[in-house]
Amino acid sequence: MEDIKEIIAESIVLSLDNKISKNDVLDKIEIPKDKEHGDFSYPCFNLAKILKNSPVNIANTIKEKIVLNDKISKVEVINGYLNFYLNNTNVTSTVLNEIISKNEKYGDTNIGNGENIIVEYSSPNIAKPFHLGHFRNTVLGASLYNMYKICGYNVTRINHLGDWGRQFGLLIEGYKRFKDEYDITKDSLNVLLDIYIRINKLAKEDESIFDIARENFKKLEEGNEEILKLWKIFRDVSIKEYKRIYDILGCGFDSYNGEAFYSDKMDEVIQILDKKGVLVDSQGAKVVNVGENMPPCIVVKSNGSTIYATRDLAAILYRARTYDFSKCIYITGSEQILHFKQIFEVAKYLVDEKYQKGLIHISYGMIRLKTGKMSTRDGTIVYINDLIEDAIKKAKDIIIAKDANLEDIDNIAKQIGVGALIFNYLKTTKVKDIIFDLDETLRFDGETGPYVQYTYVRAKSILNKVKFDTKTKIDYNLLNTKQEIELVKELGKFPNIVLKALEEYEPAILARYLIDVATLFSRFYNECPVLVDDENLKNARCGLVYATSIVIKKGLSLLGIECPEKM
Ligand code: ARG
Repeated sequence: MEDIKEIIAESIVLSLDNKISKNDVLDKIEIPKDKEHGDFSYPCFNLAKILKNSPVNIANTIKEKIVLNDKISKVEVINGYLNFYLNNTNVTSTVLNEIISKNEKYGDTNIGNGENIIVEYSSPNIAKPFHLGHFRNTVLGASLYNMYKICGYNVTRINHLGDWGRQFGLLIEGYKRFKDEYDITKDSLNVLLDIYIRINKLAKEDESIFDIARENFKKLEEGNEEILKLWKIFRDVSIKEYKRIYDILGCGFDSYNGEAFYSDKMDEVIQILDKKGVLVDSQGAKVVNVGENMPPCIVVKSNGSTIYATRDLAAILYRARTYDFSKCIYITGSEQILHFKQIFEVAKYLVDEKYQKGLIHISYGMIRLKTGKMSTRDGTIVYINDLIEDAIKKAKDIIIAKDANLEDIDNIAKQIGVGALIFNYLKTTKVKDIIFDLDETLRFDGETGPYVQYTYVRAKSILNKVKFDTKTKIDYNLLNTKQEIELVKELGKFPNIVLKALEEYEPAILARYLIDVATLFSRFYNECPVLVDDENLKNARCGLVYATSIVIKKGLSLLGIECPEKM
């Protein structure tokens, strides 16, 4: 429906004697929430200032001047909004032909025009198993990346590993003492966690261990070979394990430069801030004041060491220089909101305004467990590995119960299990906490990933039964029931939905849309039989089924979810 939107924008510009630009109009055109208000609407409020008239008057002027055509059947004014109603017959063929001809490229645009965008996500702290806290952030980032990609942006994915800090001095000491009791090549992250817990306990009984740990970290900072080698082992085994999980989740990264990467790049930051005179002493620490509403940002602690924030400041400087980004998007839990507010404020002393304005922090709510429903190893933390295994196993049980003869059952179970998890985390808007319930997540009915996947499988099975030939010439004017038209219009919204999801950094908009498509498809399927004798009607309905399958598959793929062909 994007071309129809263009036509509307052009006619608005014409009726205003070219006093505003087409892009300005395009930016503002919305799809009304309520179907009664038409297919597109254009708010005239921002024109009031430019044209020195009331929004209602402006809307009425446009309405009078606008020339209706074969695509637009009616225009109405409500409270400063112009509502456009499309000509259904024409819309049906325009939308369905567009989807079928573009196929897996439907929704792709070049809006990004090669602009550089950084999406930083996942960013776990190494030497610890990957836990649930990092899952939401991982799937959010991967999905934003997928969407930016199809909109023509040049996107770099960064995993800002938590791989630096005093705790590694302690871990190194533990590793030296206990390593012979373990096989680090197996279950490496649990081994490291175990070692860390043991040495920490020991250090609480024997303070001198903390001194050794401090010494170790100092040596690490100075690049001592032996110590560096141990740290590298921790980092390598961590990345290896994370990559195994990222593979299952179908996501990846262009860079694993985390905190350690900036350990030698912080001096410059301190110098710049010092030179600009914004670095002030506060009880022995060096801080930058960031306004009255926030505590100052600590850059160097009173004991002389740098902190998490210092490394983030160095990262901003480095990324501006290296990637020349127009946006650098960070995705973390909401407990880091203040941290990012502070460093973004300090960034104005480090980089040009255009970079500083491009720094964006996206935060999300917590994930809580519906108690008693899922086992955890130690009762509190849920490890992603366990969660994925559980989900795949349960998905397998469900599909075997439905049809034990299904081929490729393990792969399908993986697609459904993993898809269900990802969908569950993406369908909720970021700010909301999630209460997690695995059984609910895996339901084939309701607002779940499997429900959407199942819609795709149903569509494919109809098409296979009919042996639908995608090259058939189709008369889409035959699709004129309410269910058919509503489904077509919903499918036509897809490109706009992707843009909206990006605008709000909210994949939930796309996930919810896919649920709507699945629901409308179900309604259509119940009311409008596809396997009818009338060859032409059958083909037209098959075209609609085919277009639905394309949109669902593409939509799920943008969320990072695979579609099984059978389930
Ligand atoms: N490693 C951090 C954590 O687990 C998240 C890092 C977020 N990114 C950043 N540039 N600070 O909490």
